[in-house]
Amino acid sequence: MKIGIDRLSFYTSHYYVDLKTLATARSVDTDKYYVGIGQEKMAIPSPDEDVVTLAASAAYPLMAAGDLEDVELLLFATESGIDQSKSAGIYVHGLLEMSSRCRCVELKQACYSATAGIQLAIGFVARNPTKKALVIASDVARYELGSPGEATQGCGSVAILVSANPRIMAIDPECGYYTEDVMDFWRPNYRSEALVDGKYSTMVYIHALVESWKQYAELTGRSLTDFDRFCYHIPFTKMAEKAHQKLCRKTKVDVDAEQMRALLDESLRYSRITGNCYAGSMYVGLTSLLDSCEEDLAGKRVGLYSYGSGCVGEFFSGVIQPGYRSVLFSDQHRNLLENRTELTYQQYEDIFNYGVPTDGGDYVFPQYKTGAFRFSGISQHKREYESLVE
Ligand code: CAA
Repeated sequence: MKIGIDRLSFYTSHYYVDLKTLATARSVDTDKYYVGIGQEKMAIPSPDEDVVTLAASAAYPLMAAGDLEDVELLLFATESGIDQSKSAGIYVHGLLEMSSRCRCVELKQACYSATAGIQLAIGFVARNPTKKALVIASDVARYELGSPGEATQGCGSVAILVSANPRIMAIDPECGYYTEDVMDFWRPNYRSEALVDGKYSTMVYIHALVESWKQYAELTGRSLTDFDRFCYHIPFTKMAEKAHQKLCRKTKVDVDAEQMRALLDESLRYSRITGNCYAGSMYVGLTSLLDSCEEDLAGKRVGLYSYGSGCVGEFFSGVIQPGYRSVLFSDQHRNLLENRTELTYQQYEDIFNYGVPTDGGDYVFPQYKTGAFRFSGISQHKREYESLVE
């Protein structure tokens, strides 16, 4: 039985900062961002958006299409959790009016957790082939103002429906994974911005890739030439390109610049203009590939590398299914990305400093342009959400 991705829906904030604006504010050459790290824009959530509203907005098209009816497992993957106890997924479950006959839990391991969710979901569907699982990756990537990581901020969510006989991608059973206790990137409970040892993190990312690939290659006998495309975890697009070059060198596969572009470029387009979406980032890449690729990818194998600092890496793969184009949300994604509002530097800094109040008081948040849901305030220590769906 094939099991894998049946539907894939992406959502990001309506607001962004062009990295030209940030470059001017930081007295940095724009090409350091545009060329050096390969990023052009970063999505910034308004004060009335958080991982819950981003996630609910990503999953809303699936609800509208009637695809959530057989979902009995909801896995919420995030590293920007909003509560130490309650899963952010339960808020989404409520906003989407999902059936109470459903398991719901939040998963955390930096940017890796959505892939853990996919693998758990596959196990669930294998035992319950008529049921489905919804994995939602949702994050806000936030570093200190003026820090090296600042230009790699972003936010977004991807809702991934996992089922038997999937309409988009059948996930191959073999995978290679690698865990090591390292401190390349972390966020203590008392901080709203991540701490990162930037250069070290890029080295650990690549080390975990090479080790994960070794196990995958041993199990499958495949080489890098057996894939038609690759999707990498994308903290910034240059990282994915460097990682693939490194893996090619390690495995003695020659790729020139044009071949590299053909293998990766389509998967990097959305991330280049939204920034890091942490747990969802590799799945933003997959969405970008499927939406952008002019070639019919049916029957083609895609290599997938997921990385979460701390760290866990996993290399796995999937085969695109015939007819996949008819179930994509490509038009919605393009429409969303083309109709965003650019922030000035001052607006960005004001939103950044607004933060979510932590003094235990009651608040009503100003209304910005959001998706179908908004984070409207806090009352008696409880987050309040509003559905804008008519
Ligand atoms: N024109 C063109 N290129 C330029 C340039 C210019 N004017 N100025 C600089 N560059 C190039 C540099 O040569 C460099 O290229 P190479 O890496 O090929 O040498 C590139 O731009 C970046 O410049 P720096 O190395 O000087 O950049 P930095 O040290 O200020 O920041 C970073 C880079 C450390 C990765 C930083 O962006 C960061 O800390 N990011 C957050 C951490 C991160 O994303 N790590 C990735 C792995 S961990 C992970 O994947 C998990 C996750 O999601 C966080």
